[in-house]
Amino acid sequence: MTAVTHATHPIEGQKPGTSGLRKKTPVFMKPHYLENFVQAIFDVVGCKGKTFVLGGDGRYFNDSAAQVILKMAAANGAAKVIVGQGAILSTPAASHLIRLNRTDGGIIMSASHNPGGPTEDFGVKFNMPNGGPAPEAVTEAIFERTKELSAYHIDTAADIDLDRIGTVRLGGMTVAVVDPVADYAALMETLFDFDAIRALVAAGFRMRFDAMCAVTGPYARDILERRLGLPEGTVVNATPLPDFGGHHPDPNPTWAHALMEEMFGPAAPDFGAASDGDGDRNMIVGRGIYVSPSDSLAVLAANAHLAPAYAGGLKGVARSMPTSAAVDRVARAMGIEAYETPTGWKFFGNLLDAGRCTICGEESFGTGSDHVREKDGLWAVLLWLNILAVKRHGVAAILREHWKTYGRNYYSRHDFEAIDIHAAERMMSTLKAAIPTLPGTRVEGMDIAAADDFAYHDPVDGSISRAQGVRIRFDNGARIVLRLSGTGTEGATLRLYLERYEADPALQDLDPQEALAPVIRAAHALAGIKAQIGRDRPNVIT
Ligand code: G1P
Ligand code: ZN
Repeated sequence: MTAVTHATHPIEGQKPGTSGLRKKTPVFMKPHYLENFVQAIFDVVGCKGKTFVLGGDGRYFNDSAAQVILKMAAANGAAKVIVGQGAILSTPAASHLIRLNRTDGGIIMSASHNPGGPTEDFGVKFNMPNGGPAPEAVTEAIFERTKELSAYHIDTAADIDLDRIGTVRLGGMTVAVVDPVADYAALMETLFDFDAIRALVAAGFRMRFDAMCAVTGPYARDILERRLGLPEGTVVNATPLPDFGGHHPDPNPTWAHALMEEMFGPAAPDFGAASDGDGDRNMIVGRGIYVSPSDSLAVLAANAHLAPAYAGGLKGVARSMPTSAAVDRVARAMGIEAYETPTGWKFFGNLLDAGRCTICGEESFGTGSDHVREKDGLWAVLLWLNILAVKRHGVAAILREHWKTYGRNYYSRHDFEAIDIHAAERMMSTLKAAIPTLPGTRVEGMDIAAADDFAYHDPVDGSISRAQGVRIRFDNGARIVLRLSGTGTEGATLRLYLERYEADPALQDLDPQEALAPVIRAAHALAGIKAQIGRDRPNVIT
């Protein structure tokens, strides 16, 4: 059992994006590829004498990558690594373990909602001691380090049995294999009124949770079926599979269509939910009604006080810039601050750490609070359940009541995936160049009030993040946002975000695509999408 040092050479393109380094699995499996990136992490954050958390979403290569990372941590002098049994940890559970054990951070193996398998995606990200994703300064430093490192260290010990809970030694390091669910489930019990939810279940409430063959299966079974008493079988696709059963583990109406069909069918239960590959995203569906993530965030903020953890009120709320302004209206009514941050969870971390906000969310099916420093799919489901248990109204009634009180922000996101990178960049730079000429222009009968390329001034650390997406706001309150994805692994992805406000309850029941039709046409006219990228229709609509 000795550590060896392998000479290596820098590997190009190991630039971590908003959620760590994501590549096709065969790329990650190339000789030294994973090792180079992990060594760069340890070189930047330091490893000697430190304690880390390690786990992943169970996708293909998860287990062997875990063995490599453990042996490298040992050879780099780490004191201890806490690893989920079977190398499994959901992203929010990893965030919680990092905080609970006051560790020096953690490594999470996941490509989130991207498909997994030998030819699909893999990913590695580093989370900080606060439990949140590494900030840009750290990921930049890691990237710089990948370009210059010339050696990595790895222990030559045999693989550890990660299926057995307990403590073992690896070189000079302790490896603690822990139950991936227990501490997380215990945290949830402190946040929510489990008795109230159990009473709701006893009164006949039924739900479906689609774990999409990804990491939340064991969490959802333990919490929903065992602790809350929902019937066995409430959680479907509950066993994490290396290829997620061939599915795209992204909880949206397109990829979670089986759940959508059930919830809109004759035998729909009261409530439906799904979560993604690594368990940080969620989709909420009522019987016959879909809840957009922006609306879900607003409803959760408006009703969070019904759950014990938030009974004292919210310090503030935060949403990513492309997320609809529905939650801003709730914040205004409550007299609390609403922050608008760039896309990506890491921007919420500073606000949460500074105690400026309690609940935050993104339009991309991410919601969370200050209980961890990641978005948390099951947390959102449990907060909904807590609200339903207290209100004893259905999802549809709660949503309609919410719109009546605050107005409805019709909202949709159109994704144009796998488009030509150069065409996409050309389109964005043409649009950016036109920004100064836009205000005052009339499109589709709507006047443009303002346009900019969003820059975020972090109120906590004073940092500025520029070029976070083009925003075009109209006099009537409608809004268009365009940005290129930072997480795709194939070509470029254009995201077009569309929003329109409707105060009149008589007009709040339209199909969002219909309600947004003029806004959609305006976006195409302004950006020249068809001419620039050769596509006039998105391939995913949420
Ligand atoms: C996408 C989402 C974004 C989310 C990120 C990580 O990023 O749009 O809200 O934070 O995944 O889950 P994008 O591909 O748009 O850069
Ligand atoms: Zn995810």
